[in-house]
Amino acid sequence: MWASQRAGAVPDSIFGRMNAAAGRARAAGLEVIDLSIGSSDQPPPEAALAALREATRDPDTYRYPLFSDTAPLREAAAAYLARRFGVTVDPDTEVLPLIGAQEGLAHLLMAVTDPGDTLLLPDPCYPPYLGAAAVASLRAVPLPLRSEHGFLPDLDAVPGDLAPRALLLNYPNNPTSAVADGAFFTRAAAWCRARGTLLIHDHPYAELTFGGYRAPSALGAGLEGVVELHSLSKTHHLGGFRVGFAAGDAGAIAALARVKGAVDFHAYLGIQRAATVALGLPDALGRAAAQTFEERRDALVPALRELGWEVATPQASMYVWARVPGLEDSVAYAVRLAEDTGVVLSPGRAFGMLGEGFVRFALVQPPIQLAEAARRLGQGRSVRHGRQS
Ligand SMILES: Cc1ncc(COP(=O)(O)O)c(C=O)c1O
Repeated sequence: MWASQRAGAVPDSIFGRMNAAAGRARAAGLEVIDLSIGSSDQPPPEAALAALREATRDPDTYRYPLFSDTAPLREAAAAYLARRFGVTVDPDTEVLPLIGAQEGLAHLLMAVTDPGDTLLLPDPCYPPYLGAAAVASLRAVPLPLRSEHGFLPDLDAVPGDLAPRALLLNYPNNPTSAVADGAFFTRAAAWCRARGTLLIHDHPYAELTFGGYRAPSALGAGLEGVVELHSLSKTHHLGGFRVGFAAGDAGAIAALARVKGAVDFHAYLGIQRAATVALGLPDALGRAAAQTFEERRDALVPALRELGWEVATPQASMYVWARVPGLEDSVAYAVRLAEDTGVVLSPGRAFGMLGEGFVRFALVQPPIQLAEAARRLGQGRSVRHGRQS
């Protein structure tokens, strides 16, 4: 009775169904290997935890934090962008701390769009994008990401009269693990500027890159009309602390600050201090985090190929996106798989229409568990295919 149209438009999450299936597997005595959610299993950097512990003993952190109190984190974010990407931003006007990239995106959309505006967003995509679009009362138009184009969008195929208010991209990508180079962002930013479209780049996997590959920043294409969202959840394993930052176009950042001013009082100062310390840590820390996920990738991908699955070797992120031979209903498949084998994956359909036929593995367990998951997939194969509905 009290749900607004806006609330009603937020799509249901399939993860609840997966969680219930995992519960049934446990109740049936199976040891569950949960690879469904990209929540890091690694501890945050000790220096960041120490900063938080110390902050809890500092009475100055008990009050509401003001914008001026966010200066150290804004400066650390600007220094990180300069050090890592060679991008110069003004910490006073072009950076804003977030309570996670997910919070930032939802409020950014409210800040830079009006109800009924068009948002171009990838299909498949991180599911909360659709919820954020619904909460901002936007018309969400899917931009296909297909394997034959390296899961990059074909912007030339977008109808010329569409006039989206914003284009949302995310590379390294969740769920496909695809990557984009600097030239791609230059083209995307030029495409957006020609249409009066804001380019929003969601960049939580900036440091989780493998081998010699390093991910670029969309801000390398210039700050005008571009906003990038960064997260401390993945590289720094601070997901539960809810902290990140937005950087880019000063007008969009100012609009975001106005909306957030009506909603929150910034993160607890202790969490800001932990994030400030984390962003200042040597880049070797990001490399070590990436190596953990690279080793897991190397345990899983060959094992899946042995099962006859079509899997690209990801160059980044914490996911493996796999097309399952002959799969037509990824949700039914993933639920059945969880119940029969205890291996919990994300069905590709959870990420959009074009995710159908795929499943996503989150590399959130050690290599030995990933090998065990692949072994169970192999054993369960004939049963599963026979029981798909
Ligand atoms: C593409 C993408 N954006 C945002 C997030 C959430 O980031 P945060 O924890 O900073 O809100 C995730 C988490 O999985 C993600 O995959």
